[in-house]
Amino acid sequence: MSQPLTLAVLISGGGSNLQAIIDAIEAGWVNAEIKAVISNNPNAHGLVRAGKHGITSHVIDHRDFDSRAAFDARLQVCLQGIDPDFILLAGFMRILGAEIIQTFAQQIINIHPSLLPAYKGLNTYQRALDGNESRHGVSIHLVTAELDDGPVLLQGSYPIEAGDSAQDLQKKGLQLEHRMYPQLLCYLSETRLCIKGGQVFYDQALLEKPIQFNL
Ligand code: GRF
Repeated sequence: MSQPLTLAVLISGGGSNLQAIIDAIEAGWVNAEIKAVISNNPNAHGLVRAGKHGITSHVIDHRDFDSRAAFDARLQVCLQGIDPDFILLAGFMRILGAEIIQTFAQQIINIHPSLLPAYKGLNTYQRALDGNESRHGVSIHLVTAELDDGPVLLQGSYPIEAGDSAQDLQKKGLQLEHRMYPQLLCYLSETRLCIKGGQVFYDQALLEKPIQFNL
């Protein structure tokens, strides 16, 4: 087996995606190692999850910094010390500045609860209901300086059914997310998915549209 993919996972809250990744690694589905979890929120439940699995965690509380640049600089030093192959944003509720994104260009990956480019930003479930959409979904994308705008690597969708509330959509969406992040990590660790020189390749061909994830 090849070397495990090394990861830093950035969280702010519940950490259910973090848990799904931990479980997939422990089950032998994903060949990866979480070198550290970083949270900007000292009370994030994800920190408890990391601790239960013996994963090192760091709290970098954004409220301790005068500016976003100062927070990013501290985060950057922490990430350089960890030196992971990939930095996974998993419910990390801070916007990163251009400099840190440039430093780790093509290494930062985010999971977003919509079918990007539709519904960037927050409250995507309610906005999809308000938009009378028939389907909603999840996108995993490379992070670039524009919010929720980098190349989409993997995308999965589910139907919006009559009577669904935003909470119903969130439940369906999270179930999908918990399958998708591990699947993406499998593709990366098997080098089926490669990111080189600003381009993404899947099975050695240029990725022109997101890989479709089907349950
Ligand atoms: C997920 O819906 C993710 O798409 C979004 O934040 C949520 C995080 O959930 N970016 P959790 O902390 O992994 O439970």
